[in-house]
Amino acid sequence: MTHGSHTVTILGSGTMGAGIAQVAVTAGWEVELSDINEATVGAAIAGILKKLNRLVEKGRLTAAQRDDAARRLRVAAWPGSFTECEMVIEAVFEDFQTKVEALAPIVSALPSDAIIASNTSSLSIGRIGEGIGRPGCTVGMHFFNPAPLMKLVEVIAGSDTDPAITDRAVAIAESWGKIVARAADMPGFIVNHVARPYYLEAFRILEEGLAPADAIDAALCDLGGFRMGPLTLTDLIGQDINTVTTRQVFEALGRPPLLAPSPLQEKLAADGHFGRKTGRGVYAYETDAAPPAIEVEPKPLAIGAGLSAAMDDFVARATDATGSDLQRYIFGRILVAIIAQAALAYERGVAPKKDIDTALKHGTNYPKGPFEWAGQIGPQCCGRLLEALNGEVRDNRFAVPGLLKAGA
Ligand SMILES: NC(=O)c1ccc[n+]([C@@H]2O[C@H](COP(=O)([O-])OP(=O)(O)OC[C@H]3O[C@@H](n4cnc5c(N)ncnc54)[C@H](O)[C@@H]3O)[C@@H](O)[C@H]2O)c1
Repeated sequence: MTHGSHTVTILGSGTMGAGIAQVAVTAGWEVELSDINEATVGAAIAGILKKLNRLVEKGRLTAAQRDDAARRLRVAAWPGSFTECEMVIEAVFEDFQTKVEALAPIVSALPSDAIIASNTSSLSIGRIGEGIGRPGCTVGMHFFNPAPLMKLVEVIAGSDTDPAITDRAVAIAESWGKIVARAADMPGFIVNHVARPYYLEAFRILEEGLAPADAIDAALCDLGGFRMGPLTLTDLIGQDINTVTTRQVFEALGRPPLLAPSPLQEKLAADGHFGRKTGRGVYAYETDAAPPAIEVEPKPLAIGAGLSAAMDDFVARATDATGSDLQRYIFGRILVAIIAQAALAYERGVAPKKDIDTALKHGTNYPKGPFEWAGQIGPQCCGRLLEALNGEVRDNRFAVPGLLKAGA
C-alpha cells in the first residue's frame, strides 16, 4: 500500500516534467525525475533549484523550505525500486508509442494501487491505459504550461479508469494548489476543444481583410477584458503547435466547420513563422525582422441590418465598454463563436458547464467562462446572433447549437 507515501516518479523531464516536478516538490512530495536523456534530468533539477532560489529572493519561500524541497528532489534510480511510488506521471513526447514504451517497463514494478497519470494533451487516456495493460489505474492529469503558474489541471478518466483512482488524482492535484476541471476522454479535453474559435475566428477576420492583427487583438482586450488578444496568443503558443492541435481536434471530431483550420495560419506555420520563438509570426518581434508574412486585401465591414441589430443587442449585453462598429463586430463574432463551441462541447459530453467555465478561466485566463457569459447575455440572444452570422457564411459554421435555440 503506497497510498500516502507522497512519492511521485516523473517520466520525461522536459518543459512539462520539470514544471510538474516543481509543483509536486513545493507541495511537500518526494519527487523522482527521469528522462531517456540523462543530461535533461540534471538540467531540469538545476532549473527547478534556480526557480526555488528566486522564490526565496522574492520572499515567497523560506530558505528552510527551499532546502527541504531540494532534499526531496532527486534523480530516479533506474531501474529502481518503485515500492514507495504512489503515483507516476508521464510527460514524455506527445506520441502514443513513446508513452507506452516509457511506462511499460515500470508498470509491473509499481504497487497495485499506484496512480498512473499521463500529461498528454491529445491522446486517449483509455488507449494509453490499455496499451500498458493497466486501464483501471490510468488517468489523465493535463497540466498547463508553465505548470507552476497555471492553476488548471484537467483530470480525465478513461472508459475503464477506476473512479477511486480519478478521485485520488483530483485530490492530489488540489493538494498541490491546483484547480481541477474533470473532462471526458475526448479530443482536446476541455481547453483545447473549446478555445479553438478564439484563434480561428480571429484568423478568419484577418483573412477576410476586415481588420489588421493589432485591431483584432485590441478589440478582444478592450471590449472583452481578455488579457491577451488571440493573435498575440498564437504567436506565444507557437503557430506550429497551435495549428497541429487545431488539425488534431478538427479531424478527431469529424471536421466540424467551426474548427476548420485557417489557411493563413497554416501558411505561417508551413513557412516557419512560428511566432515569438522564431522572431516572426503574425507579428514581427525583432527590430530588424521582416514584417509578418501576411498579405491581405483590406475590405470594409459591410453587414446586413439583421446581423447589425443582433450584434448590437449581443454586444450591449456582453460589455459596458464602448468601441467602434468594427471593434464591436470583431469582439461579438469571436465571443459568440466561443460560446457556441462551449455549447457544442457540453452537448458532446466533454464536461459539465461548471467545469468548462473553470477550465477556460484557469487554463487560458479568460475573464469569464463561456457559460457565465451566455448566462449574462442570454442564451437566445447568443442564438439570434449565431443565426444572423450563419446567414452570411457558406460553411454553416455558426449553426445554432440546441442549447442556444429559442425555447431550449
Ligand atoms: N509544452 C506544453 O505547452 C504542454 C502543455 C500541456 C501538456 N503537454 C504535454 O506534455 C508532454 C511533454 O511535453 P513537453 O512540452 O514537456 O515536451 P519536451 O519535449 O519538453 O519534453 C519531453 C521529454 O521526454 C523525454 N523522453 C522522450 N522519450 C522518453 C522515454 N521513452 N522515457 C523517458 N523520457 C523520454 C525527452 O527526452 C524530453 O526531455 C506531451 O505529452 C505534451 O503534449 C505539453
